[in-house]
Amino acid sequence: MKIVTIVGARPQFIKLAPVSKEIRKHFEEVIIHTGQHYDFDMDKIFFEELEIPTPDHNLNIGSGTHGFQTGEMLKKIEEILLKEKPDLVLVYGDTNSTIAGALSASKLNIKIAHVEAGLRSFDRKMPEEINRVLTDHISNILFTPTDTADTNLKNEGINTGVFNIGDVMYDSLLNALKLIEKKNFKMLNELNIFKKEYILATVHRAENTDVKENLENIINAFIESDEKIIFPVHPRTRKYLEKYGFLEKIKNCENLKLISPVGYLEMIYLENNAKKILTDSGGVQKEAYFLKVPCVTLRNNTEWVETVLDGWNILVGSNKEKILENISKFNPKTETYNYRFGEGDSSKRIVDVLRNV
Ligand code: UD1
Ligand code: UDP
Repeated sequence: MKIVTIVGARPQFIKLAPVSKEIRKHFEEVIIHTGQHYDFDMDKIFFEELEIPTPDHNLNIGSGTHGFQTGEMLKKIEEILLKEKPDLVLVYGDTNSTIAGALSASKLNIKIAHVEAGLRSFDRKMPEEINRVLTDHISNILFTPTDTADTNLKNEGINTGVFNIGDVMYDSLLNALKLIEKKNFKMLNELNIFKKEYILATVHRAENTDVKENLENIINAFIESDEKIIFPVHPRTRKYLEKYGFLEKIKNCENLKLISPVGYLEMIYLENNAKKILTDSGGVQKEAYFLKVPCVTLRNNTEWVETVLDGWNILVGSNKEKILENISKFNPKTETYNYRFGEGDSSKRIVDVLRNV
């Protein structure tokens, strides 16, 4: 079987790493990189660190409005699919690269498999929610990470082709922890921080970056906190911090340290040693749960409800007072750990399913 895998954004490279390794044991894989993310530290660093095969096609689409970006991807992916003639197209997650990949395949009657199917925030204002719903409804094989995802699909009338295989990000994380053991990271020294004495923050969700008031609330909460906060800044966020003139006041702030986006192993190392995580990222919320680090989520909803139900994650949106209160007070009430996201063998299970379709 010939599989065309389509990726384009940071979290997709991280999910692709373990799956591609398994796929190549049994199938021919061709990777299309849409070029949605392109800075070295949003793109190549992951291919190098995680030894992901170099993409066979890079579409170099780059940034743009949703319509432009998705439209350009559709055109170029179709051309390649017509040439490559795959038996299956594999897409990941919920970005514009996901929906463009799935839609291109669907129009050509090529079978689609969606990794991370069934996730819902039930917030249709999020571009990712539209991408997820549409991708699920045109996919033939839906790989779900959680029971909640299965229920979401059932509620939308999707009953066939659903395989609950756990979360490939758990596979990635276990692999990263092994690789980190062999490294001798000096980041804590360089950043002048100590294990379990700092907070790690990430922000990139459009509702938090593009809306000036929300970004200002978040930044003010970080600045006013007594905690040392390490903040690897997504390029989207840097753009808006500059645009709204917030960089100046951050520069003079002792406790808040902005750094460039870091590689995956560095990120897992920073997460694992943090005393708490502040984030609006989907992936980082899960990693916090896997690593048992309390997480304060800068959103009003989440697709990863298990992390909240288990008490390890709290939703605070962009409300400054709530953020500040939970930076200091939030902690899980018990050390319960009731949900599994697979056993770290999700990539293998994906391949087992694909070998039988
Ligand atoms: C995208 C996904 C989001 C995902 C995130 C992961 C969509 C709609 N959104 O959001 O679901 O959580 O990736 O990180 O697909 N930029 C650069 N260099 C880069 C990439 C982006 O400077 O390498 C800047 C550009 O100014 C660009 C902005 O970041 O306009 C946003 O990038 P884009 O890919 O459109 O969306 P993300 O916010 O990254
Ligand atoms: N990540 C990383 N370096 C960073 C920030 C995040 O490697 O500086 C990783 C993080 O560990 C997680 C993934 O990127 O595995 C999450 O991606 P992101 O937050 O961009 O997107 P989302 O998961 O919200 O779609």
